[in-house]
Amino acid sequence: METAASAQRVTMEEVTALAKRRGFIFQSSEIYGGLNGFWDYGPLGAVLKRNVKDAWWRDTVDLRDDVVAFDSSIVMHPQVWKASGHVDAFHDVMIDCKVCKHRFRADHVPNRAQCPDCGSKDSFTEPRNFNLMMQTSIGPMEDTSAVAYLRPETAQGIFVNFKNIYQSARKRPPFGVAQIGKSFRNEITPGNFTFRIREFEQAELEYFVPDDGKDMDVFHQWVERRKAWYAQYGIASERLRFYELTESERPHYARAGIDVEYLFPWGWGELESIAHRGTYDLDAHVRASGKDLRYFDEAAKTHYIPLLIESSAGMDRTVLTFLIDAYERERSVDPNGKETERTVLRFHPFIAPVQAAVFSLARNKPELVERARGIEGALRPHFRTQYDEGNIGQLYRRQDEIGTPFCITVDYETLGDGSVTVRARDAMTQERIGADALAGYLREKLQR
Ligand code: GAP
Repeated sequence: METAASAQRVTMEEVTALAKRRGFIFQSSEIYGGLNGFWDYGPLGAVLKRNVKDAWWRDTVDLRDDVVAFDSSIVMHPQVWKASGHVDAFHDVMIDCKVCKHRFRADHVPNRAQCPDCGSKDSFTEPRNFNLMMQTSIGPMEDTSAVAYLRPETAQGIFVNFKNIYQSARKRPPFGVAQIGKSFRNEITPGNFTFRIREFEQAELEYFVPDDGKDMDVFHQWVERRKAWYAQYGIASERLRFYELTESERPHYARAGIDVEYLFPWGWGELESIAHRGTYDLDAHVRASGKDLRYFDEAAKTHYIPLLIESSAGMDRTVLTFLIDAYERERSVDPNGKETERTVLRFHPFIAPVQAAVFSLARNKPELVERARGIEGALRPHFRTQYDEGNIGQLYRRQDEIGTPFCITVDYETLGDGSVTVRARDAMTQERIGADALAGYLREKLQR
């Protein structure tokens, strides 16, 4: 099995440096010293994240006639979190070093003999529970009656709306409800760049099935579908694993659970959890609200609470995975025999923030600039494009670093015969094709 050490294909320092340099991810509130556990997506990162979410949405919602969309509010009635168990049980156990005051998650310091930060011996406080929900208050009064929470998962918005959704969408189990949105957790120790953060986005699918003996098949079908999704968008299979939780690792109500894990430079980390949650969530809301959330099967004239299969993926962790997995340093020998090195992000074309860059060979030749801008403008409605000009070698290097699959150069020949050079990111091959044929060429090459 691969270990964290052998995963050092790329270091986190390299990835974070590139993410900042090229405008993928910045520290939140950087000019004020940053805020631990919060990050901003830059001009390219915002597009990358949108593409990752679109890829999930396309596969989970657009291509399925049995899944409907949803978008619930971040702040919900505090009773939602009481009923779901989050108020009483959504906590991590923490310990503090009495010397350096550093706070740790107890499970992150298995050997409590010495503080990993300051080295003090026997300096830890007794373990205490720390609730991870972020609080806010509603309205002008800050008394306890106004306390509310920022949701720690998007799923509960779907559960409390279960009846509204199935009745308005006229769906009967098996059917699913999908949602992408922000969630908040007051993590004790955020870290590993955007892996463990306090404000993050989740893509969650809640799939409701009748209790007809086929529920485990449906569970495994979703696992296979998610496996195919990661493969389709190019995540290396040797750095991805589907870890089956044992009974003691699962919550008591869960009938099955699989964590999707990626081999990050620091070791395996969870990207997504897929779980068979039985009737636990809807039952809890029926009990707490006193409302009947059962599905009414007209044909059989029976009421029942369906079983639930959930797939819950963190979009920030998935974006980070795409960045790390695509990252490659590559040595090659140029036509003059000189050894060169480049950094390239081998993004899948659907994920790549820029799909085609169009260059003018020179920036001070108006006829070249005008022609190149014209070509870029014609491609723009169909692809994500960017115009640039100057030293072609430098431009290639920059586009390689942001993962652009194709670069198109307009030169003097273009003015004569209308042909351009198309250079492919991965193979670094170059070919000459007519500018008129570009859209068709790119459409074919980018569709994979
Ligand atoms: N509704 C089920 C649920 O929320 P979870 O395993 O607690 O399950 C699902 O969270 C996913 O959300 C995780 O696999 C992870 O990708 C993401 N996630 C959870 N906490 C996170 C955090 N602090 N920072 C970034 N992503 C997080």
